[in-house]
Amino acid sequence: MSSQDIPEENLPAEQEYAHGAVGVADEENPFADPGLPPHEHRIQDIDERAARRSERVVALLFTVSMLATVGFIVSYVTIPHDKNIFVFPIGHISALNFALGLTLGVALFCIGAGAVHWARTLMSDVEVADERHPIEAAPEIRAKVHADFRQGAKESALGRRKLIRNTMFGALALVPLSGVMLLRDLGPLPGTSLRHTLWAKGKRLVNMNTNQPLRPEDISVGSLTFAKPDGLEETDEEFQNEMAKAALMIVRLQPDNIKDKRELDWSHEGVVAFSKICTHVGCPISLYEQQTHHVLCPCHQSTFDLSDGARVIFGPAGHALPQLRIGVDSEGYLQALGDFEEPVGPAFWERG
Ligand code: FES
Repeated sequence: MSSQDIPEENLPAEQEYAHGAVGVADEENPFADPGLPPHEHRIQDIDERAARRSERVVALLFTVSMLATVGFIVSYVTIPHDKNIFVFPIGHISALNFALGLTLGVALFCIGAGAVHWARTLMSDVEVADERHPIEAAPEIRAKVHADFRQGAKESALGRRKLIRNTMFGALALVPLSGVMLLRDLGPLPGTSLRHTLWAKGKRLVNMNTNQPLRPEDISVGSLTFAKPDGLEETDEEFQNEMAKAALMIVRLQPDNIKDKRELDWSHEGVVAFSKICTHVGCPISLYEQQTHHVLCPCHQSTFDLSDGARVIFGPAGHALPQLRIGVDSEGYLQALGDFEEPVGPAFWERG
């Protein structure tokens, strides 16, 4: 049904819009502006039942969006990470990823489709032409903008169509919950686990290459040896996590060359053990310059002086490498005399 088929008295009053200046073609202006075509009313403009049908469709879409968001949350909580399903034609995929993608997609699509349907069927569709004017905010223009804004708000029927308004607010309020739920993937929180390593009193130092416990005589001047705690095997589930905190580098210095008193006290016959984890952002340190006793982190070139408490002498690292206090046990093997006394790795963790 078009507006031409409707009796004049049934048509809604036409709003007063500027329809553009209609020019007249003449010799000076052969391409005059023909103006906008006459406005045609939609079925929803003239039939309240059709308008209510559209309203229910929009509300249904927003409601489906809400249900999909709830489905997203339920899927996230209930579907196991390792469950796979077959989906034609994709094949075997993670059931959790499929459910999250599907529900989030439906939730966002329904909000968009609801808004589009609302705009196309219930909001005013009168075309408006705004004549060009100088760019200045004269008081009367500001007043007109305010009036237009109020008219737009009125025509969107936000106040009148409470069902749409309430379901839209519900859908918009629920959709961010999907992102909030995903924050759970950042956990679990580390707690105090970063403050402690596997090192403890009596734990032997084991050569990482040979897997054999180390004696002081195995460490020669000028060499750099990497060590791990006795009992930690590569096959252990937590091997990588534990090594990221417990990895040691061991060097032998002439006791006379050790400038830091605490370092000397915590060493054994000139053998010193420091954390291998750079205090900048945690790269493993691997370069040793035996003449100067400097170690260099390959990531951002932080340089530490192992003869002076491993203090930083160059680069972005914020503090010295933690030292492990060592001694020998009754069989002559190097052993830890406790855990590190400060957190290893990036200085960030010391601020907690
Ligand atoms: S991680 Fe070592 S210098 Fe950046």
